[in-house]
Amino acid sequence: MSELVRIDELSKYFDIGKGQHVHAVDKISFSIAEREIVGLVGESGSGKSTLGKTLLGLHDKSAGEVHYRGAALPRHYTTADFQKYSRKMQMIFQDPYSSLNPRMTVGEIIAEGLLLHRLMSAPQARDKAAHWLERVGLHADHMSRYPHEFSGGQRQRIGIARAMILEPEFVVCDEPISALDVSVQAQVVNLLSELQASMGLTLLFIAHDLSMVRYVSDRMAVMYLGALMEIGPVDDVYFRPLHPYTQILIASNPEPDPDIERARPSTGIQGEIPSPVNVPAGCRFAGRCPKVMDVCRGTTPVLKKVDDSERLVACHLY
Ligand SMILES: Nc1ncnc2c1ncn2[C@@H]1O[C@H](COP(=O)(O)OP(=O)(O)OP(=O)(O)O)[C@@H](O)[C@H]1O
Ligand code: SF4
Ligand SMILES: [Mg+2]
Repeated sequence: MSELVRIDELSKYFDIGKGQHVHAVDKISFSIAEREIVGLVGESGSGKSTLGKTLLGLHDKSAGEVHYRGAALPRHYTTADFQKYSRKMQMIFQDPYSSLNPRMTVGEIIAEGLLLHRLMSAPQARDKAAHWLERVGLHADHMSRYPHEFSGGQRQRIGIARAMILEPEFVVCDEPISALDVSVQAQVVNLLSELQASMGLTLLFIAHDLSMVRYVSDRMAVMYLGALMEIGPVDDVYFRPLHPYTQILIASNPEPDPDIERARPSTGIQGEIPSPVNVPAGCRFAGRCPKVMDVCRGTTPVLKKVDDSERLVACHLY
């Protein structure tokens, strides 16, 4: 598979005044192949959304680079850059309530991107929006309704139609199901999987639910306090996690299969994620790691290959 997206030492620091910065994303490097689905997990505040947005130019990059089909993307996007890149690189947001403009009809919302990108006339865009409304499982006669007339699951389908109508190549799905009722989560995930396969999409799938990530992804990436701790084929990371953080994260994830649960330690993760303003020296997980060693507090572990699989781990144990 050829590489579609590559990030090199990508960082995003938020200036919060008085010379202080939130190190939301700190020197992250990895690549995503064409048609691949990479699941991105980590506790709340670990920087997953910031990484997704920085990848797409929705945040300026503080340092490092994003390459798309081998070409470096700008550090700061101008309006012309958004015009150029946002058609191929789209985002689906977590909250289907706040991400749809309540004053626009569903037809206008879905067609908006086509008109902004001047891809077709208004009547053609309307026809295509009606087609997409049906493709995501709604009815074309819902075109003139407003977002508040729909359920959460239906609104997320509208958000998906709005992104997919542009026929993107790469989509960041930022917790696309976590605001939805459990009963509709699987339907929305299945819709995304079906679209990924039929459109040949490449996805960065951000989620809290590790079993869901395992179900949809080819590889799993684990973030902690702005840094990448482990990345590899999804079953290797899920069933044989090597980084102590991944081990605890997976052990504390509710597991639908009771046989798998019995095989795992019951340890939950201790303490709170530290502030990303003053990131600890050395391994940033040292303050919570049950296997911490002296070397961990002084030397930052680098992400490296640790066995004969395609997995990379950042930990001094390996
Ligand atoms: N605009 C901003 N200004 C300052 N700090 C920010 C901003 N956006 C995010 N942060 C901080 O950056 C860190 C990473 O946040 P981010 O939202 O990327 O985490 P996340 O992994 O997506 O969390 P969640 O699982 O809760 O969505 C957090 O400490 C957050 O408070
Ligand atoms: S480097 Fe040390 S503190 Fe960090 S995860 Fe590995 S063992 Fe734990
Ligand atoms: Mg987030």
